[in-house]
Amino acid sequence: MSPRDDEARAILKANDRGGYTVPTAGLYPYQWNWDSVFAAIGFATHDMDRAWTEIETLLAGQWPNGMVPHILFHRVDPGYFPGPDIWRGVGPVPSSGISQPPIAATFVRWLLAMDPSHGDRARRLIPKLIDWHRWFMTWRNAGGAIFVTHPWETGRDNCPDWDAPLAAIEPAGINAYDRRDTTHVQAGERPRRWDYDRYLHLVKLGADCGWDDAHLQQVAPFRVADPTMTFTLLRATRDLRALAAGFGQPTSRLDRWIDEITRGAEQLWNAGAGTYDCVDLRTGTHTGVVTNASFLSWYAGIGGDRMLPQFDRIAGLTRHAVPSTDPAHPAYEPKRYWRGPVWAMMNMLIARGLSESGHPNRAEALRINTRDMIAENGFAEYFDPRDGAPAGGRNFTWTAAIWLAWASDSARRAEWAA
Ligand code: DGY
Repeated sequence: MSPRDDEARAILKANDRGGYTVPTAGLYPYQWNWDSVFAAIGFATHDMDRAWTEIETLLAGQWPNGMVPHILFHRVDPGYFPGPDIWRGVGPVPSSGISQPPIAATFVRWLLAMDPSHGDRARRLIPKLIDWHRWFMTWRNAGGAIFVTHPWETGRDNCPDWDAPLAAIEPAGINAYDRRDTTHVQAGERPRRWDYDRYLHLVKLGADCGWDDAHLQQVAPFRVADPTMTFTLLRATRDLRALAAGFGQPTSRLDRWIDEITRGAEQLWNAGAGTYDCVDLRTGTHTGVVTNASFLSWYAGIGGDRMLPQFDRIAGLTRHAVPSTDPAHPAYEPKRYWRGPVWAMMNMLIARGLSESGHPNRAEALRINTRDMIAENGFAEYFDPRDGAPAGGRNFTWTAAIWLAWASDSARRAEWAA
């Protein structure tokens, strides 16, 4: 047992608000979608009941159209902006109006592999997960590549992939606003004002039409097909298929979606740059950035070893892998959020894909690298790849969770490797 194990459990406990977990107090005082799913795998190492509750609470916020919001505002907190009054979500719980990477079905499958006695809880979640995936296949589907209408939907808020698509947007009509994030975290580790103006413009467009998907499909100025969404949805749909089949439920619709996304993902292969990247659907151009999301191709089970040369090149450039933006790219900024820092939970997904695809040594090297980074620097939101210096929020739920489930030497990895 490492002393960090106790600390990680204490962070999950301190961030637990009763049925859901905040990513960290102050900076993110609500329930975030994929943060919660990571929290669940952390709880699962010592409190399986609490793990299931986390995902059940998240899915209780599902909208009638199937969308599962990226933020659920269970209790209003003035320390966060933009809050429920700006988002004006239309679901059963005050919420944002966009989704986030759909990793939940995959993690539900892992929870069940760790402890099969909770089958009833998994079975009850399946129809909700299918509805959520159907929402993606209906409203975020560009020939099987999954796109987003807001950078926040991918979770990779300010990565360089968005620079050109956002530059084409004139952020008109937003009211004067005060950011709260930079009262919690140094401005140099957060998105710029330029990005925020455009984030808020896109929120206003959606809120003003009551998040009418059909209308937004016509007018959304930001439509970018993205590896995070495409690869996590593909992986999660396969896991959902396995769950449904395990309960004797029909799978033909899920099979069709798997085929469609598998074929559609090919659009994200940028042969000239030798990487999976984003495609700006308005212009049809690849964004040309190698990011940590590019390396989720193994997690999605596609592309064979196409990304291996990039992985090995980038692994040698910084002390800690995997930087969120290629350090050789001119937009790389090692401390600024998704423009360079290492995100430990992305490392867990990348390593999981590597180990399933015949690269156990690389997967284990990435785990050790992540373990040492957290052991030396604590449970930060993200880390400077050059020296592991902590950045962003502290006492962070998903870093603590993946420590317990994967990075720590005492993690119960084998139990969810089914
Ligand atoms: C934030 O507020 O920075 C979040 O990433 C938006 O989801």
